[in-house]
Amino acid sequence: MESSLFSLSGKTALVTGGGRGIGLAIATGLAQHGADVALVARTKEQLHGASQKIHAETGSNVWIFPFDMENVDRIEDLFESIVATTKGVDILVNCAGTTIRGKAEDVDLKTWDQVLKVNLTSVLVLSQVFCRHRKQAGEAGSIINIGSLTCHAARPTTAAYGASKSGLLMLTKTLAVEWAGNNINVNAIGPGYIATELTEPLWTNDDFNRWVLQKTPLGRWGRPDDLIGTAVLLASRAGEFITGQIIYVDGGWLALL
Ligand SMILES: NC(=O)c1ccc[n+]([C@@H]2O[C@H](COP(=O)([O-])OP(=O)(O)OC[C@H]3O[C@@H](n4cnc5c(N)ncnc54)[C@H](OP(=O)(O)O)[C@@H]3O)[C@@H](O)[C@H]2O)c1
Repeated sequence: MESSLFSLSGKTALVTGGGRGIGLAIATGLAQHGADVALVARTKEQLHGASQKIHAETGSNVWIFPFDMENVDRIEDLFESIVATTKGVDILVNCAGTTIRGKAEDVDLKTWDQVLKVNLTSVLVLSQVFCRHRKQAGEAGSIINIGSLTCHAARPTTAAYGASKSGLLMLTKTLAVEWAGNNINVNAIGPGYIATELTEPLWTNDDFNRWVLQKTPLGRWGRPDDLIGTAVLLASRAGEFITGQIIYVDGGWLALL
């Protein structure tokens, strides 16, 4: 049985990007610690599969909400319908994310807007409506944003992605200091290179794969499950005095010169 310090019993977590990859792993981990979970992503079949898997493994309630986070004008309605179903959200994990790789001089504004909307603007809007609800309910809350190594350093071909993720870091800190008075903790997790669908073009590329293995002191790609411990810490009473931080889960990547 898990220690009560890390228990999420009686809590409900909303995880965007919960259909697969890192979001699915985090949603599963939160459910393993007692939370009910609501999952948002675009692909309905994947959400169904994720919900069946989490419920079978943990017994937690799982609700799914197919939605495109690029539709930032409809996020408030999405959140209202989630709250109407779940009766409240205590933990918000902003994990939905996308990238479109290409040289900076070739990035068109459509691509730029799309990446910024999904990775950054949607996080602001969803966090705003989450905060309003928590304040109205007079309840504490926890927001966990999924950052990246690009919160800290740049990589060629990721101008929009890097701009969105470094913006996300400062948004995390700003919301943390503004909402601390409402007992809403806001933190980020910065994953290193994690083998998922998003990074498939990278881990299937022999040269890139070698580079990642050589640059990562722990000598392997991360797995989505590697993010669970940090997410549970930040969502639970164990992380009550942590806010405005980014915690890198990167196998030592950023520690190596
Ligand atoms: N993998 C890594 O190495 C790595 C490293 C650092 C940070 N991250 C971050 O971790 C997060 C998850 O990445 P991942 O590697 O798990 O990627 P992934 O396997 O591609 O999963 C991304 C999830 O986000 C959803 N999503 C994407 N665009 C969406 C949209 N417009 N609206 C709603 N949902 C959307 C996807 O579902 P649908 O396609 O069905 O919508 C999917 O559930 C991202 O924010 C990413 O930037 C990943």
